[in-house]
Amino acid sequence: MDTDSQRRYWDALAPVYARITRIRTDDFHWGPQIPGERELRLLPPLGPGSSALELGCGEGQNSVFLAKKGVRCEAIDVSEAQLAHARDLAAREGVRIDFRRQSLEDFAAAPPPDAPFDLVHSSHALEFVEDPGAVVRAMAAAAKQGGTVAVSAVHPLFNGDWIEGEWEDESGRGAGDAGAGLFLRSYFSPPDDVRDDAFGHAVSRAWPVSSWFGWFRAAGLEVTALLEPPATPDAPYTSDDWANHGGQLDRIPSTVILVGVRR
Ligand SMILES: C[S@@+](CC[C@H](N)C(=O)[O-])C[C@H]1O[C@@H](n2cnc3c(N)ncnc32)[C@H](O)[C@@H]1O
Repeated sequence: MDTDSQRRYWDALAPVYARITRIRTDDFHWGPQIPGERELRLLPPLGPGSSALELGCGEGQNSVFLAKKGVRCEAIDVSEAQLAHARDLAAREGVRIDFRRQSLEDFAAAPPPDAPFDLVHSSHALEFVEDPGAVVRAMAAAAKQGGTVAVSAVHPLFNGDWIEGEWEDESGRGAGDAGAGLFLRSYFSPPDDVRDDAFGHAVSRAWPVSSWFGWFRAAGLEVTALLEPPATPDAPYTSDDWANHGGQLDRIPSTVILVGVRR
């Protein structure tokens, strides 16, 4: 996965992403169309005196949410265009956040100067790097002893092709209305999800749930939550496409969430 082409892709996509996604800042979101922190309650208590670092922050809604609670927030992203939207949003919401352009690969190679943090978090960014395990290790290293690392990423089942059609179950009966399902080429070796479109070229990978669990454990994190939430109509992160998901998200998860504590 080439970091420069990811950066160019997100720089080009940023204005469209800002227009089509609707992400609230009165809740901490864990991913598209799934319940937010208000319902899931996965984060430790945070407020004035605590600190958080966000990786691949995009427009920074989660950092804005935390900063409004008095948390000292830093956030990085590879895309200057995404960060420009994030800075605008923070200004509109009246909070100060230290936004910096940095790739996750560079973060993994060099710990941030202001570490350690009470919370190191990332939503739907680690799937864009070649070695998510190295990033999880660096996240753990940037967390305080007893601090929290939270990652959400694309669920491996969501990388399959959703197909409608006529099916037969093992007994040879047609599946009737339930005639839709998933074709997944390989769960264990996820194929690259390649986006070659008007914005350029970007690649992501939908890793097995056990890989995330293993990376957390290898980084010295005690996994305190592993969730695969179904869709909800009242999600803090939505878009027209996510909201009209045609029933798919009622049957398979789109996001896997892992939370761990540094021991
Ligand atoms: C799907 S968006 C998610 C943004 C935000 N976390 C959210 O949930 O709205 C993915 C973000 O990851 C960033 N990104 C992709 N590859 C990256 C990399 N190698 N290093 C840092 N950020 C990266 C993109 O610029 C983009 O802002």
